[in-house]
Amino acid sequence: MVDFSTLLDLGYLISATLFIFGIKKLSSPKTAPQGNLYGALGMLVAVLVTVFKMQLSDQGIEGWMWIVIGLGIGAVIGYWMATTVEMTGMPELVALFNGFGGAASALVALSEAIKVYTADDYAIAEPIFQVYHLIPILAIGASALVGWMTLTGSLVAMFKLKGGFYLPLSKKDEKGRRKWVNFPTWGPSWLNYVKSLLFILGIIMIILSLNNPGNVGLIIGIVLLSCVLGILFVLPIGGADMPVVVSLLNSLSGIAAAFTGFVVGNTVLIIAGSMVGAAGLILTFIMCKAMNRELFDVLFKAFGGSEKQSLTRTKVGSDPEEVAMVLDGISKCIIVPGYGMAVSQSQHLVKEFADILEENDVDVSYAIHPVAGRMPGHMNVLLAEANVPYEKLIEMDEINSEFSECDVALVIGANDTVNPAARSGEGPLGGMPIIDADKAGVVVIIKRSLSVGYAGVDNDLFYEDKTMMLFGDGKKMMAELNSALKEL
Ligand code: TAP
Repeated sequence: MVDFSTLLDLGYLISATLFIFGIKKLSSPKTAPQGNLYGALGMLVAVLVTVFKMQLSDQGIEGWMWIVIGLGIGAVIGYWMATTVEMTGMPELVALFNGFGGAASALVALSEAIKVYTADDYAIAEPIFQVYHLIPILAIGASALVGWMTLTGSLVAMFKLKGGFYLPLSKKDEKGRRKWVNFPTWGPSWLNYVKSLLFILGIIMIILSLNNPGNVGLIIGIVLLSCVLGILFVLPIGGADMPVVVSLLNSLSGIAAAFTGFVVGNTVLIIAGSMVGAAGLILTFIMCKAMNRELFDVLFKAFGGSEKQSLTRTKVGSDPEEVAMVLDGISKCIIVPGYGMAVSQSQHLVKEFADILEENDVDVSYAIHPVAGRMPGHMNVLLAEANVPYEKLIEMDEINSEFSECDVALVIGANDTVNPAARSGEGPLGGMPIIDADKAGVVVIIKRSLSVGYAGVDNDLFYEDKTMMLFGDGKKMMAELNSALKEL
């Protein structure tokens, strides 16, 4: 007869299997919702098994009330954040969640450290510490170093994605808003020496903690040092390189969780943490490839540190009727979505635009840049929400060769990802591959002004003779363009 504790171990196995299948399903937009469900189910099984295991242990669970209160507060805050966040605020929320993940793991490791270090004989405080006490002590230090760095780095990343923050307690303006402070991008080259030195110091402190297991001060030192490191690593990175940082922080939050798994001796935490760490790292390299950057260069050379370029040129805007006439009778149109489509929430009208053209036998597809928007897969999520078939979303590398035979490229809210300045190899966008929209016969660009994109670089494409600028909010202009097309 199988005993209950073996059944519980089986529960961990089921949970790990659900995580693996979940992550596999996340690799396609079609199966991603199912993948999310698998992941959530895996987490539920893992939590239930852990609670049962703790209850069955020698002491049982002592603080039920604390667990229930924590769960309640967490669930309410999580639900509130997830349901009230604007679609445009999602990237900041994801960055914040990465940080919370790192901090949660580091806090668990810290509480274990304090519990064990303050016990009379640290070696008998937890069974795992008796046999392999070096591994958990190493893991406590590593979790502190990685976890707190993830928290502070993610907070900086969140403010960078937001562009800045409202200064608390400052005077309110007539709209009732406090003073807005732009978040700086700062990183002189000597900062690299400081970062490297602090990192080496952190490693030395972890090694020292092995010989001084009762010294909580050392762990607190690692925590403080890690907090400073997180800020210093993300502060110099800006502009178009932010996607790399966000995915790296995601990976670090998983690595911190895996270290904490070693601290508390929880296999499923080690497995889940390693999977998040590995997936985040793979995404980081995909982002680096998309940006044509080396990870080392992003972390130590700070491409995005420049100021926003000021505009000196002007361009006369077109109107929807004029654009509709150009679209009349064409055979191929490629839609290039960008962050402005997310801001204006115009994806449903973009789909309607494609439907109108397709009814007139126009071949329509969508060109997807890997870093368009503000989070990986941002455009895919929005267009899937508008029921655009997945096979119509074509990656940059595949679709670029089609622009030369494309009559019209409709750029909706994209800027950096179509900016030819990237081809020069200079500046914040230097070397980043772009969507070759400028190779289409006519380029129609919908945005509110001539202003620069996220990387702050002026865009020559706006001023080309074949470019028609439709100035205005994405949703409004798409609606007017669709009406003009219907009236043809
Ligand atoms: P961006 O270069 O950010 O440009 C978006 C454009 O949308 C802006 O120039 C803006 O011009 C326009 N816009 C804003 N609100 C609009 C509205 N309501 N209606 C119409 N247009 C509107 O966009 P992109 O081409 O997608 O490039 C993404 C950039 O973000 C890249 O530099 C990328 O590296 C960076 N980034 C990406 C990520 C990820 S993971 N994808 C994360 C962080 C940063 P107006 O103000 O003139 O309207």
